[in-house]
Amino acid sequence: MGRGIGFGKTILFGEHFVVYGLEGIPAAIGDTTTAQVERIHGKIGYDLIDNRPATTGYKEEKKGEYEPLLRRIIDYMQLTEKIKITLNGNLFCASGVGASAACAVAVARAINDEYKLKWNDYQINKAAFEGETAGSGTPSGIDNTVATYGGFLYFKKNLTGGENQITPVKIKQPIEIVLGNTGKTALTKEVVGDVKIQKESDPDAMQKIFDNYNLVVTSAKKAISEYDLKKLGELMNQNQILLRQINVSCKESEDIISAANSAGALGAKITGTGRGGLVICLTPGKDLQEKVAKAIKAKGYEVTKTTIGWIEKCKLNHLVCGEWCQKML
Ligand code: MEV
Repeated sequence: MGRGIGFGKTILFGEHFVVYGLEGIPAAIGDTTTAQVERIHGKIGYDLIDNRPATTGYKEEKKGEYEPLLRRIIDYMQLTEKIKITLNGNLFCASGVGASAACAVAVARAINDEYKLKWNDYQINKAAFEGETAGSGTPSGIDNTVATYGGFLYFKKNLTGGENQITPVKIKQPIEIVLGNTGKTALTKEVVGDVKIQKESDPDAMQKIFDNYNLVVTSAKKAISEYDLKKLGELMNQNQILLRQINVSCKESEDIISAANSAGALGAKITGTGRGGLVICLTPGKDLQEKVAKAIKAKGYEVTKTTIGWIEKCKLNHLVCGEWCQKML
C-alpha cells in the first residue's frame, strides 16, 4: 500500500489576482489530507473511500471537480491498473482551505509511493497541478504548490507557461490565526470565471484594482520582512476591500469579518475562492486567537484555530519535506 500527504492552506494575499500573474502570499496550515493507494482488480480507474471531515454539502457539491481531478492524476502518472484510494487526515474540507489541492498532492504522493516512481516534489506538484486543472479549470497553481511544499511562500504564476516563481519565506515566529467557516461551498471554476467576465467587460476598472493590489502586496512583503503584524493586518483589510470590488465576498464572510475585527483581530479577509468558504483572521497570541474565535462562534459559525509561518511538515518527521525543509530551517 502506498501512502501520501498534502497540506491545507490559507492565502494571506492574492486569491484571484494570482490567476493574472500578480504575486500572492499563501501559507500552509498544519492540517493535512492523507491518501492510501492499493492496487485492485478491474478496468483502469479508481474506487474512492473518502473519510475526510468536511463541511455539510462540500463533498456533494465538489464531486464534479474531484472526479476529473483524480482521473487526470491517474492518467498523468500512467497507471495501467485499477486502484483503491482512501482519503483520511485532519484537514476539515471547506472551500478556501485548498482541500482539493491537498487531496491531489496526497494521492500523487501515494501513487508515487505504491509504484516506487521516485518522483520528487517538483514532479508531484506538476501532477497535482494537472489534476487541479482538470478539476477546476484554470488554476494558478498556488494551491497545489503550497499543498506540496508547505511553509510560507511568495508565489507568482508564469503566464507564458514557464516555471512559476516560488520563494519560501522564513518568519521569526509562527502566527496564530482563526479560520471562520461560512458553511457555504463555492465552485472555484465558477467564481474564477465570473472574475474573468468582470475583467473583460471593464478592463480599465480591473487594471486599477490590480494596480492597487500590487501596492498592497508589495507593502505586505515589507511588513512580513519586518514582522510588523499590525501593518500586515491592515493590509489584509485593504486586500479585502479589493476582493469586494471583484465580487467574491458574500454576506456570511462579511459577518465573520466584522465579528473578528470587533473582537480585535489585526486583519480579516476571505481566503481562497470566496463567495463563502473561509475567512482568515490574523490573531497573534493565544489570547487574541481565543477571543476572536469565540466572537465568530457566537455568530453561529464554525472556527479552526491554527498557526501559519512555520514548517509544519517537520512535525511529520521529515516524511515528505526532503531538501526543501532543510533550506527553510
Ligand atoms: C483558490 O484557492 C485561489 C484562486 O485564486 C484560484 C487559483 O489561484 O487557482 C481563487
